[in-house]
Amino acid sequence: MKPCSCFVTGTDTEIGKTLISSALIHAQAKAGVHVAAMKPIAAGAQWLDGAWHNEDVDMLAAEVSCPLPTSLTTPYLFEMPAAPHLAAEQEGVDIDVGLILRHFEAVQQQAQAVVVEGVGGFCVPLGARTDTADLAQQLALPVVLVVGMRLGCISMALLTAQAIATRGLHLAGWVANTVDPTMALFEGNVKALQDRLDAPLIGVVPRLETPSAAAAAAHLNWNALRTAQAPR
Ligand SMILES: Nc1ncnc2c1ncn2[C@@H]1O[C@H](COP(=O)(O)OP(=O)(O)OP(=O)(O)O)[C@@H](O)[C@H]1O
Ligand SMILES: [Mg+2]
Repeated sequence: MKPCSCFVTGTDTEIGKTLISSALIHAQAKAGVHVAAMKPIAAGAQWLDGAWHNEDVDMLAAEVSCPLPTSLTTPYLFEMPAAPHLAAEQEGVDIDVGLILRHFEAVQQQAQAVVVEGVGGFCVPLGARTDTADLAQQLALPVVLVVGMRLGCISMALLTAQAIATRGLHLAGWVANTVDPTMALFEGNVKALQDRLDAPLIGVVPRLETPSAAAAAAHLNWNALRTAQAPR
């Protein structure tokens, strides 16, 4: 596959953004692309072997072919697993989108592709006046939307797509990730989204017995991504 930089967002928190981001990184690394990952803001860290660790940061880092220091790829790593602006407040930190942008530019210079995982849903606040949508807009990357398939996801996905469009960003594709394997009329829900989202479906990921980047990647066709159109 060709190098593909993108911003990965989702319909909510805990719906598979990291799993799908790691699958996209895995697929590119396997194809010989020099790919880096960024999780610019991560909330929830443990002190292990002399360093702060976050599960998302570690899972993404495990797949990259362009390894970079966490201080560069995750400028904001908070100990408390809470809403980012509150976790930041606890540590007396202001999240500066401009600083994240400078880190992104430095990462971009060292890799052929950069996969950036957002934090929570698309409109999660980062501070009193900024939110994740501002960050996505500044990065100006094509967006991949992970839809956590469960009851209620249709409206959440359509609202997120609207918010992405409002920011002038390009929705390059979406992934149906099975959060609730008992969801009634699963295919009907996927079809409803296919009919309404103006972006290609990259794949349907079932509930995996052992979730991993490789296992998720097997269900995804990244060549379907509509990346030709540059972000506006
Ligand atoms: N298709 C799947 N099959 C099995 N487990 C899954 C699947 N998708 C996600 N999970 C599991 O659900 C949990 C949440 O997924 P993930 O960490 O990717 O969500 P997220 O949207 O990145 O969350 P956050 O908002 O905290 O960053 C993880 O334990 C992950 O392994
Ligand atoms: Mg995550």
